[in-house]
Amino acid sequence: MKAIEIRNKYLNFFKKNGHEIIPSAPLIPENDPSVLFTTAGMQPLVPYLLGEKHPNGTRLVDYQKCVRTNDIEEVGDNRHLTYFEMLGNWSLGDYFKEESIKMSYEFLTKELNIEPEKISVTCFAGDEDCPRDEVTAKCWKEVGIPEERIYFFGKDDNWWIAGEEGPCGPDTEMFYDTGKPKCSEECNPSCDCGKYVEIWNNVFMEYFKDKSGKYTKLKQHNVDTGLGLERMAMLLQGKETPFETEIFEPIMNKLVEIQKVDNIESRRIIAEHLRSSMMIICDGGKPSNIDRGYILRRLIRRMIRHMNNLQIPLEELSTLIDINVENLKEMYPILEEKRETLKTVITEEKDKFVKTLTKGEKEFIKEIEEVKKQGKDIVDGKMVFRLYDTYGFPPEVTEELARENGMQIDKKEFERLFKEHQEKSRAGAEQKFKGGLAGTGEMETKYHTATHLLNAALRQVLGEHVHQRGSNITAERMRFDFSHDNKMTEEEKQKTEALVNEWIAEAIPVEHIEMKKEEAIKSGAEAMFIEKYGDIVSVYKIGDKSIELCGGPHVSNTSELGHFKIKKEESSSSGVRRIKAILE
Ligand code: ALA
Repeated sequence: MKAIEIRNKYLNFFKKNGHEIIPSAPLIPENDPSVLFTTAGMQPLVPYLLGEKHPNGTRLVDYQKCVRTNDIEEVGDNRHLTYFEMLGNWSLGDYFKEESIKMSYEFLTKELNIEPEKISVTCFAGDEDCPRDEVTAKCWKEVGIPEERIYFFGKDDNWWIAGEEGPCGPDTEMFYDTGKPKCSEECNPSCDCGKYVEIWNNVFMEYFKDKSGKYTKLKQHNVDTGLGLERMAMLLQGKETPFETEIFEPIMNKLVEIQKVDNIESRRIIAEHLRSSMMIICDGGKPSNIDRGYILRRLIRRMIRHMNNLQIPLEELSTLIDINVENLKEMYPILEEKRETLKTVITEEKDKFVKTLTKGEKEFIKEIEEVKKQGKDIVDGKMVFRLYDTYGFPPEVTEELARENGMQIDKKEFERLFKEHQEKSRAGAEQKFKGGLAGTGEMETKYHTATHLLNAALRQVLGEHVHQRGSNITAERMRFDFSHDNKMTEEEKQKTEALVNEWIAEAIPVEHIEMKKEEAIKSGAEAMFIEKYGDIVSVYKIGDKSIELCGGPHVSNTSELGHFKIKKEESSSSGVRRIKAILE
């Protein structure tokens, strides 16, 4: 059964059961800057889950385009996707557990013809916030699931909420038993070994969790369900991965045909990121250095790196886009409509990235010469990581370049730094989801770096008497106080702004160095309170533009900052001026 048939069966089945079909909301949420992308079918429905009347009634069904980006780095394995389609049905204060479970079971066993023996389910085990969900377990028994295939787990497995705050509740999840042997005596649906695959999640949303972590009952009980389409297609087609289904097959085959190097992970990454990027662009996404645009940029650039890995000429992108449009336009007619936009946006981003890569190569050659001069033959892990992080250079490419120069790379050290970085960015992503606010952390980091550039620019435009006197950063803007007597003229402001933007355009790497305090002072590093630092100080250096004592964090390259704009210049106190500026 093809994905589109599963989707149609789903919509029709719930329609037959009194649900109105509503259209998929765009991937980029309307009027909601607090989330990057639509991540679940319930997201556009939050007001109605909280009690507002939906114009289409109390029973709804749809397919929802979703993007989840927490696991970008995992894509390439046999299951992670950034873009996926979620089939969902809702009761807004209408039916509850019993009817929901009956319909789900009927759909799985009668419409999709899944053998009942292959289905296991999980229910909420109960805690101080909400009792054990015996009602749900009883409903499952009534439709025919035997007790030994009904499991109970805690909040980690059987409670659903989008982020940290909002409508939520216990859920019941349905699992498909692939028939693989149990990985251990204890193997059960919460196990990751691949025997059980989660296919559907029904959330019984009757609670609201507030910022303080307190749960209260909602005005109405709701049902919110989500079924991952790609995964269901994979299982029903007896495939091991979604990449073997008709959704990805044409593009995967084409990649095999045009690749010069064989690597299945790279092929999956290209296929996945291309589809994801295309869907985001269709809904208005544009590559940029912040938030949504930055995710899109990462997807496209990672895809290109892997095309390089397979030694596929980048001109093939246009053909690959055509293949996806042809293959997926029945599911998403908008792809056909946007074919040319897709090509333009992706090609332009490719051209930008190719330039950056060329810069990285130059940087590499400089480094190699330096290493040679020192009579060594190993490129250190920090350099390998910097090339990866700043220029998107895959370590394999660096390794190859090094080999051509009769050298090796310190791969162990690279891997350590890479892991450290991954953990940090994962923490960042979690933070972002938790806060529900786009840009938390990431934006502030950017403003940190912009502060250094502004300080350096002011010293060039106004003179060396300029020093930082204070700074205040939020995710929305930066404020910078500095020593200077007079109001800045229009021309001075424009010059300063232009200089910062010039340095951003130059894509200068930001280096973190630790050195002795005296050395830092000698090298002319800017510092607000030099006496407050210890003997060894942390210094951030931005090319030959800026060197400052600072604890960070900073971006790794100025190109990440976007466009710098001075909003206001005013007096702060006697002899101190204040600039308010934004990155856009
Ligand atoms: N909102 C639920 C989920 O995303 C159904 O799993």
